[in-house]
Amino acid sequence: MKYWKKLSHAEQDLSISAALRQNVDFKHNLSLGIPASKLDSLVFHEGAPFLKDAPLLRSYVQNPNHIGCHTLGDSETFFSGTQQLEREVIDILGVDLLKAAPDSIDGYIAAGGTEANIQACWIYRNRFLQENNAQHHEIALLASEDTHYSVAKASNLLHLPWYSVPVEDDTRKLDLDQLALIIRQAKANGVKYFIVIANMATTMFGSVDDPDDYVTALQAENVPFYLHIDGAFGGFVYPVSLPENNLNFTNPYVSSITLDAHKMLQAPYGTGVFLTRKGMMRYVYTEQAQYVNGMDITLSGSRSGANAIAVWMILSTYGPYGYLEKINKLLYRTKWLCKELEQLGIPHYRHPNLNIVAIRASAVPSSVAEKYGLVPDTHQGAPNWYKIVVMEHVEIESLQEFLLEFGGNSFLK
Ligand SMILES: Cc1ncc(COP(=O)(O)O)c(C=O)c1O
Repeated sequence: MKYWKKLSHAEQDLSISAALRQNVDFKHNLSLGIPASKLDSLVFHEGAPFLKDAPLLRSYVQNPNHIGCHTLGDSETFFSGTQQLEREVIDILGVDLLKAAPDSIDGYIAAGGTEANIQACWIYRNRFLQENNAQHHEIALLASEDTHYSVAKASNLLHLPWYSVPVEDDTRKLDLDQLALIIRQAKANGVKYFIVIANMATTMFGSVDDPDDYVTALQAENVPFYLHIDGAFGGFVYPVSLPENNLNFTNPYVSSITLDAHKMLQAPYGTGVFLTRKGMMRYVYTEQAQYVNGMDITLSGSRSGANAIAVWMILSTYGPYGYLEKINKLLYRTKWLCKELEQLGIPHYRHPNLNIVAIRASAVPSSVAEKYGLVPDTHQGAPNWYKIVVMEHVEIESLQEFLLEFGGNSFLK
């Protein structure tokens, strides 16, 4: 690990306090022009005693705005201290988690996985428009039927057709014959360029696409493409449970990756992560953003710097080995659940490196699904699957209670 280190709370406090001191101090510095200030002191009392030991809450009160992207070009100088902590997060995730070469990645903390996926599609669409003189209808999104609906949003917002690739029902793997057929159909419809969104864990199943399937199929048809990995769910699990994989930056075809710290990392909402190889962000540079110092090249404008600090704190508190232990605990519980389901003959799908279990809805009475808060694949009509996501709060005791509904788990009954 080059950047990811475990730090004590005292060490974290020192770094965060130093970063906040480097930011603009609205009380003591002259800063007459920016439409920003610390949080309203009548409501958020900055003298509250508990703030002394809570650097994240102090960051919220100081309210840094991390508008823009801080891994390239200039940035707003008012918040330079905490922007550095965001850069450290991007280095840890890009280099240590996703195996990029140092200094080869740009990135920022986005509102969530949706924004990060749309940011990727926006970049590649513009790149095809600018570099290839493409027309909108000549650029298509390509993703599996299990892909998150943020791709449907990207299709709608960016005026790009979306081709959905069926998956095999049992394995959730891409249907390769259909993939080849769909690419040929798209070409026949006038599509010349593709933006692929491959899943590092789908929302419902935790299934993982093999990006090489897309690469092989698109190269066979001799069409240019960019490949984005949606790791909004799996990005904080899969690279830890299976570090040698082809959904990271060691794969030369992978141009960008989405992560979501507000899922498995249990960060506050508003902590999606967008990571991309250098040279890509400039395709979404908004020239009109002249009053912002530096380049506004992110989909969101103003965004909270405290969110970046929260991610930095979580990563620093665990360190790489503590985090590995945390993920292994969740995978152990998942494995335990699947073994019990198998013994009970309850049909389910699980990717061996992930902590989602999708159970055939035909095996689960809806009253049981409701009682245990299982999530269905659809709220419109009868579901086909229910999922259990083994998070920190999903302990074996709760899983055991669930299994007892099926007469299961003789070990502790
Ligand atoms: C695979 C995947 N991609 C994208 C998203 C969207 O993430 P967000 O809700 O943070 O925008 C989700 C959310 O569940 C997801 O599971």
